[in-house]
Amino acid sequence: MKQEQLTELLYQSLETEKGGLKVYETALRCAQNDDLKKEWQEYLEQTRNHERILQEVCTTMGLDPDKETPGRRVVRHIGESLVKAMEMARSAGPPEAAELVAAECVVLAETKDHLNWELLGEIVEKLSGAQKKAMKEAHDEVEDEEDEHLYHTMGWCRELWIESLGMPAVLPPPEEEKDVKTAIGAARAKMARSKMTHRKAS
Ligand SMILES: [Fe+2]
Ligand SMILES: [Fe+2]
Repeated sequence: MKQEQLTELLYQSLETEKGGLKVYETALRCAQNDDLKKEWQEYLEQTRNHERILQEVCTTMGLDPDKETPGRRVVRHIGESLVKAMEMARSAGPPEAAELVAAECVVLAETKDHLNWELLGEIVEKLSGAQKKAMKEAHDEVEDEEDEHLYHTMGWCRELWIESLGMPAVLPPPEEEKDVKTAIGAARAKMARSKMTHRKAS
């Protein structure tokens, strides 16, 4: 394994969690639906924990968690851009529009967060000793939460858009009701949504 690129992945992962805190703080100001607010509040707290966990992993790996890298700067720039996009929507348009923008921004941020942890999971087996133990424990604690962050928010984003189009929406989304934690589960939940809208309508 290329040690240098593993280090880069760790720094980018930590920066993603740091940016995620600001993304959720801003998204919470845009959220209108009470169930969504509750969900994102929980994700914000989990993200705070992920940041702490990655700081510890960096230390175990002998890395300075504050070291700047070019890749890390890019991750930070994207996070700040997402915050700006939400603020733009919040100051310009109706609250429902800002809520949609926020849902899209959270999906974008969580796509990177989810990828990072998927990759960190891949490298566990390549490590050894204390480093392997620290990475495995971190991954075991965080992985399921990242699945929820991404798949459930994708569901929220889709259903809020459908509602905005004046069509029957499933809120909270089926991903949440079915407690989806995998890509296959998310696909199944999406397929089940039409039945769920009929049930709600009848
Ligand atoms: Fe995270
Ligand atoms: Fe996340």
